[in-house]
Amino acid sequence: MEQPFIQFRDLHKSFGEKQVLRGVDLGVPRGQTLVVLGGSGSGKSVLIKHTIGLHLPDSGEVLVDGVSVGEQDEAGLRATRKKVGMLFQGGALFDSMSVFDNVAYALVEHTDMTSDAVADRVTEVLGMVELENVEHLMPADLSGGMRKRVALARAIALAPRGLLYDEPTTGLDPITSNAINRLIRGLQSRLGVTSIVVTHDIQSALMVGDRMAFLHEGRIRFDGTVDEAKRSEEPLLRDFLQGGGYAQA
Ligand SMILES: Nc1ncnc2c1ncn2[C@@H]1O[C@H](COP(=O)(O)OP(=O)(O)OP(=O)(O)O)[C@@H](O)[C@H]1O
Ligand SMILES: [Mg+2]
Repeated sequence: MEQPFIQFRDLHKSFGEKQVLRGVDLGVPRGQTLVVLGGSGSGKSVLIKHTIGLHLPDSGEVLVDGVSVGEQDEAGLRATRKKVGMLFQGGALFDSMSVFDNVAYALVEHTDMTSDAVADRVTEVLGMVELENVEHLMPADLSGGMRKRVALARAIALAPRGLLYDEPTTGLDPITSNAINRLIRGLQSRLGVTSIVVTHDIQSALMVGDRMAFLHEGRIRFDGTVDEAKRSEEPLLRDFLQGGGYAQA
């Protein structure tokens, strides 16, 4: 079998006494979208942040495109972060910077593009998330759905081969959520990226996912295709799928 683009191997991570990840084994095949489900506080955000070295494993490893992220030096880590974009939980835009500067940030940091080329690219990626003429706005001027789109434009600016989405639809109304789900799908088919989507939103999970993984008490309790997930006998996963997701904490 082809090597997965992102691979977690026996990943352990604790904070003080609290063991969050207790041996996670999980792979994301190239070009596919894996949805990670699990209760609030189960470690979903911690897990995906390991992919770009925002957390380092206590033991085990994370491979991106065959390279162990935990063993990279600064230059290696920068290369990984160019290769894999992340949409953070809550959007996390720079509030004191315009939409233009938010989206341009990585281009200015990571490339030697001219300012004209940066401006063209900013317009291009805003177009990909279906936003026009918003460059001059400040994050405070945007609706929740627009913030997510801008954050997504920022995450795709460097044309990453992988994308991590942490709760991309949380807090959005159903129509806006649907639009974001379509965008995620569209980016996947247009750009061929490999993605991990963390979500509590079952509609979103079913719409964007090729595969599903269920994280519980630090381990992966289910890992399979969406169809396999629907047929799974795993009680916690069944509760999740039938109950329409977890209540928000
Ligand atoms: N930097 C940190 N320092 C200490 N503890 C942390 C840190 N980051 C996360 N944790 C702890 O790790 C556990 C898992 O957190 P995480 O944010 O991954 O949960 P989650 O599954 O993403 O939850 P939610 O669905 O609410 O976003 C929590 O108990 C959290 O308090
Ligand atoms: Mg989280």
